[in-house]
Parts: sequence; C-alpha cells; structure tokens
Amino acid sequence: MSPRSLIQTAVFPVAGRGTRFLPATKASPKEMLPVVDKPLIQYAVEEALAAGARRLVFITGASKRAIEDHFDSDHELEHILESQGKTELARQIRSVLPPYASCIYIRQPAPLGLGHAVLCALPAVGSEPFFVHLADDLIQGSIPCLKQMAEIYDAKRASILGVEIVPRRDTDKYGIVEVESDRSHTSRVRSIVEKPKPADAPSNLAVVGRYILTPSIFEHLEHIGRGAGGEIQLTDGIARLMREEAVYAYRFTGKRFDCGNKLGYLQATVELALAHPALGGDFRRYLNTLRPPARRRARKP
Ligand code: G1P
Repeated sequence: MSPRSLIQTAVFPVAGRGTRFLPATKASPKEMLPVVDKPLIQYAVEEALAAGARRLVFITGASKRAIEDHFDSDHELEHILESQGKTELARQIRSVLPPYASCIYIRQPAPLGLGHAVLCALPAVGSEPFFVHLADDLIQGSIPCLKQMAEIYDAKRASILGVEIVPRRDTDKYGIVEVESDRSHTSRVRSIVEKPKPADAPSNLAVVGRYILTPSIFEHLEHIGRGAGGEIQLTDGIARLMREEAVYAYRFTGKRFDCGNKLGYLQATVELALAHPALGGDFRRYLNTLRPPARRRARKP
C-alpha cells in the first residue's frame, strides 16, 4: 500500500440549489446530474480519492439526500444484480466507495456562501490541511487535478489554488488572482478578488473549484463578513490568510468543463461519451450522421 498521503480530508460543498438546471434540480441535487454514466459528485470523489483523501466531508443542504444514498451501500440492489447474473454491474455498485473511505455529512443551516460552507467543515477537518472540491468544475486529464496539487503541496506546505486562464470578459464569474510570475505553473499569489468586473480585474487567471487549504483558513472565515453577492466568500478568507501565510496558484494540466451551466455540461457529456471505452465508437458514428452533407462541387459551365 502507498504511504499515507499528507492530505486525508476532502470537503465537498454541495448545498447549492442548482437553479440554472431547474426544473431538473427541483427535487434532486445538481451534483447527481450524470455525465454519461456517473453523477458529477462521483467524479469529484474519485478525484479526491486518487489524490489520497480518505475522509470525505459533504456540506449539504435541502434536497441533498440522494448524495448520501449514492455513497451508501445498497445490499438489496447488489443482491438483485447478482441474482440476475449482472456481476460486473454489482461490482461497480459496490465499488462506488473503497472500504477505507468514510463519509461525513454536515448540514449548512443557510445558504450563506462558499466561505461559510467551508467553515461548516471545521469540526470534521480539525487542524490538518484539506482539499476543497467543487463538483461543478469537472476536470479531465491523465493525472487528476487534486493529485497534481497534492504534489505541489508536498513541496510548498502551503495553501494551493487551482487556476486557469479565462477570457477577460468572464472575470466576473470567478475568484481572480494576481501572481508573482505569469511564466511558471506554480506562483505565489499577490492578491485575490471575488468576481471583479473585467475592467477592474487584476488578471484573467481564475480560481477553479480546486483548493488545498491550511487549517488557518478557519480563523479567517470566522471573522469575515459578507462580500460579493452578499455571501461569505472563500476568496475573502483566502485574502486574509495571505497576510499571514504564502498562498500559491497552480496552473493545472487538464481540461475543465464548467458543469454549472448547461453548455459546459453538454460539452462534458459529449467529450466524455466520445472517450468512453464501450460507447465512444457508436456515439462518434451517430454524431457523424448529424453533420450537414458536404457541399456538392459547383459544376463547370
Ligand atoms: C466559486 C468561488 C469562485 C471560484 C468558482 C470556481 O464561485 O466563489 O471564487 O472561482 O467557484 O468555479 P461560484 O461558481 O460558486 O459562484
């Protein structure tokens, strides 16, 4: 077995109502929306496990029970599948979570923002560094994004933010960082601001939904007030943390799909379906049938 990783806990803030996907998300969590054959939250958990996490902390809210059920064992379903000879499916259902992983569910009492959601994780995280993973941001690559970040943490022993360059017009959708050096993949953060207008943004380097945070973040989150959008912002807590500790931005390798909006979700679905070992070939052939017929060559007079 591999040596114990430095970061054992992953926090998944899943309390948001997913209003962009209504009515699909009226009674079921947006994190349970499937991309091909797995819900978004399962991609999230698999990424955290691949990075060494063993304790999975879900910050939940109203209508999120399906997430608990998804990660719970379902002996009845396993039995039905086994008795029908569907052993591979039964194996998949059983291995949604490895036996060494444990789940903790904490209810966020009110939708007060991402910073507040992370603060709710304090009793489960304690005084160790931890991952924060936002399941809306689905990132695909040969090395899982949090695993890449855990390696950077190993070297720096400081908070690490996953970042990528976004179009300048989109800065008001993200936490935006200004870094010491644009040239290297890992650089110390000089400043961070939540959702600045393009004209006010210090750069177009955006924080995506991947963080490694030192436990000192909690003291800061306890003291910040409401920020952008009237919410307690994780970005503001990180800005305060930076007064005391170095914080690094890491430009990860991989492709991010913003599954918090319909277009990004559809793009993820199409690309992951094309890459799916059992489905990809048929799906590609189907997509080809949708292509407009090639224009006939103009005839010579
Ligand atoms: C949150 C954070 C923001 C970050 C973004 C990444 O915003 O507040 O700093 O850039 O996630 O997806 P939200 O998308 O929840 O509005």
